[in-house]
Amino acid sequence: MIDSFGREITYLRISLTDLCNLRCKYCMPEQGVCKKAHEDMMTLEEMIKGVKTALSLGIRKFRLTGGEPLLKKNIIDICRKISELEGVENLCITTNGVLLEKYAKDLKEAGVKGVNISLDTLDREKFLYMTGKDELESVKRGIKAALKEGFEKVKINTVLIGGFNDDEAEKLSKLTLQYPLDLRFIELMPMNREANFGKESFVPLDYLAASLKGLQKIDESSLSAEDKGSVAKLYKYEDGLGRVGFISAVSNHFCASCNRIRLTADGKIKPCLHSEREINIKGLDELSMKEAFKEAILNKPIAHGDLSFGNFTKSARSMNCIGG
Ligand code: GTP
Ligand code: 5AD
Ligand code: SF4
Repeated sequence: MIDSFGREITYLRISLTDLCNLRCKYCMPEQGVCKKAHEDMMTLEEMIKGVKTALSLGIRKFRLTGGEPLLKKNIIDICRKISELEGVENLCITTNGVLLEKYAKDLKEAGVKGVNISLDTLDREKFLYMTGKDELESVKRGIKAALKEGFEKVKINTVLIGGFNDDEAEKLSKLTLQYPLDLRFIELMPMNREANFGKESFVPLDYLAASLKGLQKIDESSLSAEDKGSVAKLYKYEDGLGRVGFISAVSNHFCASCNRIRLTADGKIKPCLHSEREINIKGLDELSMKEAFKEAILNKPIAHGDLSFGNFTKSARSMNCIGG
């Protein structure tokens, strides 16, 4: 379906849970979030009804997010049920990787095509500082397991934070010389007011692409349709097995070509990551659900408001309650 600004909406991000086994400072409050009542969360049946409705409106790509989606008990069942629906072209998952070693094989067998894994640092102490948990080694094992399973796409998400991991940018980007994965740097978005990131933490990515020696911009014409629609600008080292991407969600937002809407774990459609607006689908019959999806798509804003240091998102939810 086409929205009010001529954008074709083809991608639904589904958050399966607000809960997470890490506590990334830029994402969620240190004390975690209150567990919502079970009856307020989407059931598997409601979720499948939501996916079918999305399919009927032309959505073809689905990404499972969280919180941490691998904490969901029936995760493999959810993946299988979605990937088997007619019309689903691409089912992917975004995970923090802690439990990925355990689930990689089953996810692949359940029809998941792509796995995006968060990794901000290769330093154990820094990982502990940013996430609150000493889990760097589990994440590394998770990434290796994903590579071993041969998913169509394995991507690493690195939120670039000035004074924290900017000194590791080259080392991280050079992982793509060794492994067939996309390493994507992401601009820090001002989501969590409590985290008190200083001005120096918000680094526009433009300078980084230019400063990483040997990286060459990949010609748009050689990219797949999916990569053309991606939020990342893609680069490559000459002998690279993988690619390096830059997601400038703040300094150079990609709202004009945004193709996505989001569904939260408690059944609200968010037309935009950064807007307050939410449209409920939980408890609706098929017809009303379709109307709710249409309302969400037609109410997708032209762009998110100004985001910068001190200028926080208008979304009332923390990132773990939206799904990134
Ligand atoms: P693919 O392109 O399908 O690989 O995934 P993705 O980049 O859409 O998903 P992922 O969950 O890996 O998100 C990567 C980063 O992009 C996260 O920091 C997201 O918050 C950010 N992001 C994803 N969608 C949007 C969006 O619509 N707007 C903004 N501003 N940021 C987004
Ligand atoms: N700014 C940028 N990216 C964020 N993510 C979570 N919070 C933020 C933020 N404030 C990223 C995570 C994960 C993805 C889904 O969203 O690193 O990889
Ligand atoms: Fe958990 Fe992902 Fe948020 Fe980190 S960014 S706390 S891993 S939901």
